[in-house]
Amino acid sequence: MEKPTNRILSGVQPSGDLHLGNYLGAIKNFVSLQHKYECFFCVVDLHAITVWQDPATLAQKTREVTAAFIASGIDPKKNTLFVQSQVPQHAQLAWMFSCIARMGWLNRMTQFKDKAGKNSENVSVGLFSYPTLMAADILIYLATHVPVGEDQKQHLELTRDIAQKFNNDFKHELFPIPEPLILGEAKRVMSLRDGTKKMSKSDPSDYSRIMLTDSKENIVQKIKKAKTDPLPLPDSLEDAKARPEALNLLTIFAALNDSDTEEVISNYGGKEFSQFKNDLGELASSKLSPISDEVNKLMSDKVYLDSIIVSGKEKAISVAKPVLDKVFEILGFLHNNIPKN
Ligand code: AMP
Ligand code: TRP
Repeated sequence: MEKPTNRILSGVQPSGDLHLGNYLGAIKNFVSLQHKYECFFCVVDLHAITVWQDPATLAQKTREVTAAFIASGIDPKKNTLFVQSQVPQHAQLAWMFSCIARMGWLNRMTQFKDKAGKNSENVSVGLFSYPTLMAADILIYLATHVPVGEDQKQHLELTRDIAQKFNNDFKHELFPIPEPLILGEAKRVMSLRDGTKKMSKSDPSDYSRIMLTDSKENIVQKIKKAKTDPLPLPDSLEDAKARPEALNLLTIFAALNDSDTEEVISNYGGKEFSQFKNDLGELASSKLSPISDEVNKLMSDKVYLDSIIVSGKEKAISVAKPVLDKVFEILGFLHNNIPKN
């Protein structure tokens, strides 16, 4: 089997509208990587149902994430854009991986602990075993690199452990040990209400996050209301590191503007937040509005969007199927071993 050397897989859940953290931590990086790698980008609906999803809106949200990929600048002809549940090999390989991964490995996953909280007896089994499905998403394509936000680093380490254990247990070098690509200035975008908490779809406060679909007025308003401290802006990175809300806004500015945080500090350090927030509001809306306009346009052309999803499915299966067949063979399953007469 041909072994790729520069193949990317990454996934985004259709579990709610996309926010600035998804854009800066993941999708914006996908756009620049598409020129250097062979890319598979996947809307991970099987992951989304680890928590309750309303069946009446899941398909719509799945199309919206696909549209957001394209609207952000990912070329659907050059890359494979597809929906996870349409490629059955992901769930099949995830089962094998749940027999490779150890309970102790999964017990260490901090995202599970955060999401389950005090409710750990009552969350789905899928929420616990989810990282084995994520490992399958990546390894079923023999992907070598995985661009993600920093919150996914631990899941990537688990993926590497699974690949290594599979290769060792069965004395086969089938799976690559994939490298995380945690890129850009905003690797972990924080809540606008609390600079120590990640910006997330599940935060109850709307003012904690900027959505890709927010209007210009909304974006400007949310940034104006973002929590800060009474001091002027920090004038060194050192100083900013002790002030999480200020650092968050500075890194968001840098990431949106393709510059770096130190440069932003050299322009705004010592100044009042009010002017900086005005400029950041303008910058964010000028970058995000064209994307949300394009998402709306794509969402009104379902025939086009669905044609992308169908061709993505075919391309994805053509790569995933031979890998799963190889896994069956390595494990000793009867599967393809029935001789034809
Ligand atoms: P999810 O919405 O959980 O499927 O996340 C999709 C991608 O966005 C993953 O690569 C995450 O690491 C990334 N991501 C989600 N939230 C943030 C955040 N607050 N900051 C940076 N990246 C994020
Ligand atoms: N677990 C990721 C998240 O919640 C989404 C995801 C699923 C993913 N499968 C993946 C990311 C494979 C990268 C590669 O953000």
